[in-house]
Amino acid sequence: MIVENQVPLQPYNSFGIVARALHLARVKSEADVARLMASADWPRLTRDAPAFVLGGGSNLVITGDIKPLVVKVEIGGRRLVEETARGWLVEAGAGENWHDLVRWTLEQGWPGLENLALIPGSVGASPVQNIGAYGVELQDRFRELDAIDLQTGQTFTLNAAQCGFGYRDSVFKHTPAGSKGLGLAGRALITRVRFWLPKPWKPVLGYADLERKMAETGTSNPDAQQIFDWVCAIRRAKLPDPVVIGNAGSFFKNPTVSGEQCADIIARDPKVVHYPMADGSIKLAAGWLIDACGWKGKGVGNAGVYEKQALVLVNRGGATGGEVMTLAKAIQTSVYERFGILLEPEPVVV
Ligand code: EPU
Repeated sequence: MIVENQVPLQPYNSFGIVARALHLARVKSEADVARLMASADWPRLTRDAPAFVLGGGSNLVITGDIKPLVVKVEIGGRRLVEETARGWLVEAGAGENWHDLVRWTLEQGWPGLENLALIPGSVGASPVQNIGAYGVELQDRFRELDAIDLQTGQTFTLNAAQCGFGYRDSVFKHTPAGSKGLGLAGRALITRVRFWLPKPWKPVLGYADLERKMAETGTSNPDAQQIFDWVCAIRRAKLPDPVVIGNAGSFFKNPTVSGEQCADIIARDPKVVHYPMADGSIKLAAGWLIDACGWKGKGVGNAGVYEKQALVLVNRGGATGGEVMTLAKAIQTSVYERFGILLEPEPVVV
């Protein structure tokens, strides 16, 4: 295995930010990871900072050249592990493209991932983010994952509870220091993920955009392929294609507030988009809050707020990570000043 030097990262981050990895190693198998960790390069390149694991780069803001060793995960493979009367267990390598996996499972006749169609990124990144869309989160279809501990070289398997899934959150987003020793950021390299697609398949149709599609087409009991097509159409209509316009999907999480706080905001802004949660808290649409502050179409340098969805920041061409973060901070300030809510960014910033 060769460690490459001065590798351009623009093709490997969906924001399309120009930066380099001073050192980058591609791993295509578990054995490649073992070989890398046994090589003379490893202690030298990880002495000052842990290796940085790069998946699909779709949830990443790069603010300069990356000095720690970048390990680019390119582990492939998709297979049916088992089929029982209760469902299908499907496994995919962390380097597989997420949307290709969704499409492939549907082609095989194993429905369940259709609401998560067209989410950019890799299979290995899907549990890190606990990706979610149109009423389904990864944790709803997750069985377990295999990973390698980059400190000890040991392989291990985690189930859903051990992954600590939350809204756009998991143990893989937290450093050990910041989360009572339980965080795995910078430590775990996810190699394979197994998904459980239960039988009988049940459509998830509660999301307003999908209800609108049902009404428009007069279809009350769509199949999984129909839902897949609708989700693709909805996403294409309001989210920019990263191949054309660099972006990292939603830039901020949708914040949750107490009923009291929400009533306060409604009194001032009756149109605020809000969703009551099972625990009594209320989720607010961050896109609406940003839009209400007049940010749609605005920007800082070459970083901008997408015209059709204010929650998405875009690279209008040549944006730096610094410009993206300056824009993000300006948005945070104006939303905080108007609504008293501090928006939390979704992407990892390096
Ligand atoms: N809205 C506005 N103005 C805007 C944007 C949104 O008024 O500029 C309003 C919309 O009218 C709508 C509401 O805000 O009533 C919610 O918007 P949308 O349905 O587009 O969903 P979202 O809450 O902005 C979330 C996820 C998306 C996911 C969609 C669909 C987060 C942070 N984002 O977006 O996930 O695709 O729901 O489930 O939870 C991602 O994480 O990268 C992502 C794209």
